[in-house]
Amino acid sequence: MKAVVYTRYGPPEVLGLADVKTPVPGDDEVLVKVCAVSLNRSDWEGLRGTPLYSRIGGLFRPRRHVLGSDIAGRVEATGHAATRFKPGEDVFADVLSRMGGFAEYICVPQGALAPLPAGLSYEQAATLPQAGAIALQGIRDKGQVLPGQKVLINGAGGGAGLYAVQLAKLAGAEVTGADNTEKLEFIRSLGADHVIDYTREDFTRAGRAYDLVLDLAAYRSASACKGALAPGGRYLYVGGSVGTLLQVLLLGPVLGRAERKRIRLLAVRLGVQHLAPLVELCQAGKVTTVIDRRYQLSQVPEALRYLGEGHAKGKVIVALD
Ligand SMILES: NC(=O)c1ccc[n+]([C@@H]2O[C@H](COP(=O)([O-])OP(=O)(O)OC[C@H]3O[C@@H](n4cnc5c(N)ncnc54)[C@H](OP(=O)(O)O)[C@@H]3O)[C@@H](O)[C@H]2O)c1
Repeated sequence: MKAVVYTRYGPPEVLGLADVKTPVPGDDEVLVKVCAVSLNRSDWEGLRGTPLYSRIGGLFRPRRHVLGSDIAGRVEATGHAATRFKPGEDVFADVLSRMGGFAEYICVPQGALAPLPAGLSYEQAATLPQAGAIALQGIRDKGQVLPGQKVLINGAGGGAGLYAVQLAKLAGAEVTGADNTEKLEFIRSLGADHVIDYTREDFTRAGRAYDLVLDLAAYRSASACKGALAPGGRYLYVGGSVGTLLQVLLLGPVLGRAERKRIRLLAVRLGVQHLAPLVELCQAGKVTTVIDRRYQLSQVPEALRYLGEGHAKGKVIVALD
């Protein structure tokens, strides 16, 4: 089968389309023919080997040689004990812990798979796993956004931002989305009430206070972020610099305690089994999936460059035949 392979960290040029062995499903695994796979920032981070947390398991060289985690496709074959699915069924999955989605076929443990939601295409379903889990848990489960609250989503123009802005609006919040100049119109189109151009304005210095800051691109100090919270507000670190992550982990529990401000890491529970509320909203037309661009498998390097260089608005998809 064809797969997009890399053996060292670097720019998109280190990726190459190669012929590799089609995997054989283990007892509890399902062989899926990949029909669509969406790109995430975690693919870009895993390609570049930065931030440092993206090298977990492969400090000098990538442990997994095929990136791509959010897949939708069709069951091709099943292992002896994988009885939940049958060949021909449409499925989707998040395979972040093992990657391998930029390929024609992938083996997935049956527990990580769910049936393709009715009414959603392979491409739409593939946009949901990682971005949707971050947004659902950031806005609803951990963010606990209430009507009228002020919410800032930093990095709102990307994949998780796409769903986080819409969920925060559905919860009745007043939403501000921050991202680069090119993405501001897109963030407004998702329903955001205000936008901030991070290349011109630092949200921690603007003198505004939020009940929730969902930080998808955390590059400011934890104490600066604390300053952007209203009393009783929450700051959730999702991704960004390792320096900010360490500050959040080490200082977060004490910073802002006096003003009842909570500064925490959002450790996302990944897995399509947690996505049901978002899937239902998509099926009901209350949340929209936005696919900015589609690429072929051979164009994965180009697709990743588009995302990594800051152009992708919403999701980017690799569609296979
Ligand atoms: N905590 C967890 O458990 C967990 C789980 C999975 C993933 N993650 C992390 O979640 C993060 C977000 O994922 P995603 O797929 O939504 O990424 P994405 O699609 O790339 O979106 C991130 C957005 O942030 C923007 N941005 C970059 N620097 C910024 C800054 N200084 N201020 C404001 N915005 C900035 C990016 O624009 P530019 O293009 O201009 O850079 C991009 O639009 C990733 O870092 C990923 O590793 C965390």
